[in-house]
Amino acid sequence: MATEKSVMVPDTRVLLDLKNSKGHGFYCFKYDELYLYALRPSMLKGSNNKDKIKSIKEAELKDDDIIICAYPKCGTHWLWEVIEMVKSGTIQYQKDVKETRMMEFIFKDGIEAVAPPRVFNTHLPLRMLPTQVVERKVKCIQIMRNPKDACVSFFNHCRDMEKPYGYDGDFAEFTEAFLSGKMPFGSYSTYLLAWKAEVAASPELPVLNLFYEDMKFDPVKTVKDIAKFLSLTSTDQFCEEVALACSFKKMKTVDEEMKVELPIKLWKDGTKGTFYRKGEIGDWKNWFTVAENEKFDQIWNEQMKDSGFEFTYAPV
Ligand code: A3P
Repeated sequence: MATEKSVMVPDTRVLLDLKNSKGHGFYCFKYDELYLYALRPSMLKGSNNKDKIKSIKEAELKDDDIIICAYPKCGTHWLWEVIEMVKSGTIQYQKDVKETRMMEFIFKDGIEAVAPPRVFNTHLPLRMLPTQVVERKVKCIQIMRNPKDACVSFFNHCRDMEKPYGYDGDFAEFTEAFLSGKMPFGSYSTYLLAWKAEVAASPELPVLNLFYEDMKFDPVKTVKDIAKFLSLTSTDQFCEEVALACSFKKMKTVDEEMKVELPIKLWKDGTKGTFYRKGEIGDWKNWFTVAENEKFDQIWNEQMKDSGFEFTYAPV
């Protein structure tokens, strides 16, 4: 079981060591009860991780901003491209990668510097977002995914990434971290329960809750739901075109051929690191043993009991 102790990591920062007894896991810092990965000092330009995250709360927003809220690996890239198209009324891919609009990556100054119209995204809980989200009633769209596919997707992501992820444990070990929350962004169950409670405490906040699996089964309906939520008039034909343009295959190709990459190395050498891995419902069946699946169900069901969340685990 991972314990929480501070260590000096190789580039001279003091972080919490969340590694397990085999020495596999993550170094994180903790802010407002949430574990987060620490950016390198070179990316923080003289500030530190906690102050940068804290700064997000003070960011000035605009009334027509939109924020995608999601636990990692639940379909943020997909949803971001869809919303940008619906909002602009054109079938045009964003040249930038969605990380350029990720609140915990660009912080207050970066948020305020984005030119409108703006679609941000974040894995942070509502309590850590700009106070103006609630004050200005900024539209929030939450996308959720079944926890087993999210876990598999997050494992591949963490394993293939450069540090600060650069996960070195196996899938079973990762599943333990995913369920216990001893990792960046904490556990998915904690995220969902916090989301539900924090949204309930702000009943005026306009929120659309979506599911990855619904978007997969009927992408056109999801595009229409988004247009309606944003009070936009979109023809059936346009919604169909958006759904098609944002299919997994199209987005993977666009990512490989036309996106402006970030000026940092994301993926470890020798991996096939990508944000567009498989894009399927039910891949978890290729990863969990029967015993691991039973254990996952037991822990997950206990954590989520009486929460009211229901997930789809297989394609129809
Ligand atoms: P897999 O790893 O299961 O393939 P996020 O954008 O939140 O990081 O989520 C990434 C997950 O969404 C990955 O899941 C990725 O393949 C999937 N994804 C990305 N674009 C998609 C699309 N257009 N359709 C379906 N799934 C998509």
